[in-house]
Amino acid sequence: MALSDDSSAQALTPLQVMGDAPVIPVIVLSDLAHAVPLARALVAGGIRMLEVTLRTPVALACIERIANEVPQALVGAGTVRSAADAQAAVLAGASFAVSPGYTHRVGKACRDLGLPLLPGVATSSEILAAQEDGYFALKFFPALQSGGSALLKAWQGPFGDVKFCPTGGVTPANAPELLALANVLCVGGSWLTPPDALAQGDWARITRLAREACGLRAATS
Ligand code: 3PG
Repeated sequence: MALSDDSSAQALTPLQVMGDAPVIPVIVLSDLAHAVPLARALVAGGIRMLEVTLRTPVALACIERIANEVPQALVGAGTVRSAADAQAAVLAGASFAVSPGYTHRVGKACRDLGLPLLPGVATSSEILAAQEDGYFALKFFPALQSGGSALLKAWQGPFGDVKFCPTGGVTPANAPELLALANVLCVGGSWLTPPDALAQGDWARITRLAREACGLRAATS
C-alpha cells in the first residue's frame, strides 16, 4: 500500500488518493445495509480508496457507516457538485471528494474544509481552471466519451505536470492501455460493484473483481 496504516484525512493528498491502487471504484449504493459488507469486500481484494457517489438518498449514510465501521478503507464522496455537497461529505466522514466537473466555488469549499479533491475535467480550459487553484491530480471525465487515451496523450505536451484518473467507459479490457500512459496514475470505474452482485450479496465476487483490478497495473509493466 502506498500509505501507512495510520494515514488520516488530514494527511491525505489527491496524489495519494490516485496512487493507492490502479482503480478507484465508483460506487452507487441504494441500500444502506450493503455499505459495510461491500467496503469490506473491496478492502479484502486490495482496494481501499472507495468513491461513494452522492446519487442516492442513502449515499451520505453509507459514507458515514463505512467511515465508522471499516477503518481499513478510506471512503470518499463522488458526484460532489456544490459547496453544500462538500460540507455534507465532510460531516459524513468522507476522506476525499471527487467531482464530475470543476468550479472555483467547489474547489474553494473543499480547500476551506481541508477535503482533498479530485476535480473532474474534460477540456484543456477546465485543466487550466483547476491548475489555477492548485490542482494537478485530476479526474478525466467522461474519459472514453471525451477522447480516451488519444486525448490523454495530447495533454502530455502542454500539461506534463498533471496526473489523471480517467473515469467513464473504463473496463478491464481498456484499463491497461490507459494505465500504461505516463500521465495516468489510476482509473475509475463502476465495474467492481455490479448491481446484481450487490443485490445478491455476492461479496466474494466483488473481492475477486477488486483483486483482478489490483493486478491491472502489474499487467501493464
Ligand atoms: C460515473 O460517474 O458514473 C463513472 O464515470 C462511472 O462510469 P462507468 O460506469 O462507465 O465506469
